[in-house]
Amino acid sequence: MRQPEFGAELPPAHKSAEALELLALRRSTPADHLSGPGPDNAQLDLMLRIAARVPDHRRVTPFRFILFEDEARAAFGKILRAQYVANEPDVTETRAECEQNRFMRAPVVVAIVSSVNPEHRTPEWEQILTAGAVCQNLLLAANASGFAAQWLTEWYAFDAAVLKALGLSENERVAGYVYIGTAKEHPKERARPDMDAIVSRYEGNVVAE
Ligand SMILES: Cc1cc2nc3c(=O)[nH]c(=O)nc-3n(C[C@H](O)[C@H](O)[C@H](O)COP(=O)(O)O)c2cc1C
Repeated sequence: MRQPEFGAELPPAHKSAEALELLALRRSTPADHLSGPGPDNAQLDLMLRIAARVPDHRRVTPFRFILFEDEARAAFGKILRAQYVANEPDVTETRAECEQNRFMRAPVVVAIVSSVNPEHRTPEWEQILTAGAVCQNLLLAANASGFAAQWLTEWYAFDAAVLKALGLSENERVAGYVYIGTAKEHPKERARPDMDAIVSRYEGNVVAE
C-alpha cells in the first residue's frame, strides 16, 4: 500500500466502483456472530493507519488506539467481570461469565479513545467528531481487508472504573470498541433511513419563529 510522503502531490479523488459498492453494501456483523481468523499484524497495522487518516481540524490527533489480542482479551475480561459484579452484586454466574467473555467474541478488539485537548482552539465537538470518523474508517478498512466488524460501546465504554483500568485520562472517553474477525453467518440487511425524510434542499431564508 502506498504511503505518501508529507507534501507529496495526491490525486484529488480516486474513482472506484469497487469502493462505492463496498460503501453501498457495508454492514456490521454482530460481535456474537464473529470468530477467527482475525487480521495478522500487517493487516491490522494497515487498518489502523487507514483509520487514523481522517479529517482532523488543525491536526489535533484527538484519538488513540488500544489493541486487545490473544491473552490480553482474557486479562481484560477479568476486569470486566469484577467491575460488573461490583456494580450488580446480585448477578448470576452465567451473566458474570458472559461479561468476562465479552472480548473473547472476536480475535481482535480495538478501543478507539477520544482524547480531547480542551486547551486547543479546535472546538471539542470537532475533536469528538474526528474520533467517530476514526471508528467508521476502521470498520471500512476491516471490511475492505476481508474482515467482518462491529462498533460497540456497551456499558464498559461508560464505566469510570473500567476507563481508569484502561488508563484513560479525564479528557478521554471510549468512542468505541471495534470488534474485528470473521463472520460465522452473513448479516441480514437492516432498515435504512428514509432519504426523503432526511434530505431537503435549502430554498431561501428560514427564519426561526
Ligand atoms: C457509537 C456507537 C455505539 C454503538 N454501540 C452499540 C452497542 O453498544 N450495542 C449494539 O448492539 N450496537 C451498538 N451500535 C450499533 C452497531 O455498531 C451497528 O451500527 C448496528 O448494529 C448495525 O449497523 P450497520 O450494519 O449499518 O453498521 C453502536 C453504534 C455506534 C455508532
